[in-house]
Amino acid sequence: MAVQKILRMGDARLLRVAEPIREFNSPVLDRLIQDMFDTMAALDGAGLAAPQIGVNQRLVIFGIESNPRYPDVEPVPTTVLINPEIEILSDEMDEAWEGCLSVPGLRGLVPRYTRLRYRGYDQTGRRFEREVHGFHARVVQHECDHLDGILYPRRIRDLTQFGFEEDLFPEQGAE
Ligand code: NI
Repeated sequence: MAVQKILRMGDARLLRVAEPIREFNSPVLDRLIQDMFDTMAALDGAGLAAPQIGVNQRLVIFGIESNPRYPDVEPVPTTVLINPEIEILSDEMDEAWEGCLSVPGLRGLVPRYTRLRYRGYDQTGRRFEREVHGFHARVVQHECDHLDGILYPRRIRDLTQFGFEEDLFPEQGAE
């Protein structure tokens, strides 16, 4: 288990545009992906982008079975997504609360597109694509934003809907 330190908002490395991965099936890549899964699991995250652990490459992971941080959301398959491309399928957006391991303790109400198709590669270099909606589409947009140096607070339309989780949702009690 190799849990890595997560960079937090304010660290300039989170603002970079990440570089495409060119070599698949390598021990270095496999180790990076394992470290990312270990880190995400240790922190109960729904997703993690390589730049969040200081690796400036276009690689994200995500997946939710049942997660105490997201008790009401539909499951998302455990996915390794490299060099992603997103095609928005509808202009429709909705708003939901998001958090981020790089913005600990805070939540914001973020608009996202509701339907999209994404394409990319898994860790073996196999190309795949999926058409998704709802929470799955939201997670993909959040994680892929990290690859372009964008943290979710920049997507919030109304900054009154951004704050500390404990204070926004006191009825939920301490986690
Ligand atoms: Ni994030």
